[in-house]
Amino acid sequence: MTEAFDAVDLIRAKRDGRELSTAEIGWLVDAFTRGYVADEQMSAWAMAVLLNGMTRREIRDLTLAMIASGERMSFADLGKATVDKHSTGGVGDKITLPLAPLVASFGVAVPQLSGRGLGHTGGTLDKLEAVRGWQAYLSPEAMLAQLRDVGAVICAAGPGLAPADKKLYALRDTTGAVEAIPLIASSIMSKKIAEGTGALVLDVKFGEGAFMKDLDLARELARTMVDLGTDAGVATSALLTDMSVPLGLTIGNALEVRESVEVLSGGGPDDVVELTVELARAMLAAVGLPDADPAAALADGRAMDVWRRMIAAQGGDPDAPLPTGRETETVTAPTSGVLAEQHALPFGIAAWRLGAGRARQQDPVSAGAGIELHAKPGDRVEAGQPLFTLHADEAARIPRALDALNGAWSIGDTPPEPRPLIVDRIG
Ligand code: URA
Repeated sequence: MTEAFDAVDLIRAKRDGRELSTAEIGWLVDAFTRGYVADEQMSAWAMAVLLNGMTRREIRDLTLAMIASGERMSFADLGKATVDKHSTGGVGDKITLPLAPLVASFGVAVPQLSGRGLGHTGGTLDKLEAVRGWQAYLSPEAMLAQLRDVGAVICAAGPGLAPADKKLYALRDTTGAVEAIPLIASSIMSKKIAEGTGALVLDVKFGEGAFMKDLDLARELARTMVDLGTDAGVATSALLTDMSVPLGLTIGNALEVRESVEVLSGGGPDDVVELTVELARAMLAAVGLPDADPAAALADGRAMDVWRRMIAAQGGDPDAPLPTGRETETVTAPTSGVLAEQHALPFGIAAWRLGAGRARQQDPVSAGAGIELHAKPGDRVEAGQPLFTLHADEAARIPRALDALNGAWSIGDTPPEPRPLIVDRIG
């Protein structure tokens, strides 16, 4: 086969800041997927994009080319509106767990194709695998049947969705080319558009526990993704949310499932409830239900009923006790005062070191490992009062987790400035 372009020319073009044509981008992604463009060439090209950026048209072409590299799902025959949510990831972010059944309790289908965690951010599938018997892998037929019968599905994305993204993401991950807005936006949106959802709400996080440390960059990422979704006919909106402190009071797989069940029982920490309810409102508004009251569905058990059916439909036992780490260590307040700081990133790293996360794709995770927080910034604490408890399967993991937490929290005399959790909405 005669190739239409030369990879080296396209790398040089991006290196020198030239805008690539639709045909050039389409060829590059296709030739990379076929294995004609080598990994080192695609890595060099990704780094040139990271340094020089892409125009809106180029980002759209890249997204469409990655969608075209695989299959597209369709929920057109379902007879229900579909809406999905994507979070760019954070520490203690378990929102998908209560959110999917909550939104489905309004008769909407929620096809939530999720991933596993890497590094300090957890993955939804890892969390749900803490539930005894629960299966992440569903055939497309089983997924459709569950969407019809239960309304909510959280499962693994099949290998056929945007395979070019899977290959490119693995290269970016090992070559320092993750943090590029055009690449992140096209990566996330190619999978979401290929998945076939009719509407999408994005939770774009900023702050030290997030991909995007900076609010303005997070806003640009959100805007870029909302434009991509809208251009592709998916009703897309975004919330910008603060990820400078851990979300809720738990970090780690089984611990986060436990907290999600508390939210579904009408309780749970205020920040988790607020974000769950606001994302549910945005999702329900996107499918024409602007007056739905998600807080009521948490309070009266409707969302919990869907959770139990959703877990059972995938082989899980919603009543089984959740695994716990064999070893625990509780850190107490050295003095009385107000908890002034609690930094998301070191708490995420500590949970990872305890075994809740993985360093490489193929590593296993511990279901019981993680951190339980007993106080949040602004809470009054007395000397000797527990601040947080570390959980692990092996005692040897605890000292390195404690190292990560050096300087991660502080007690002062005055409460910190209250910070809004949701700082902006786009789309
Ligand atoms: N998540 C993705 O799926 N892709 C990225 O590039 C970053 C986060």
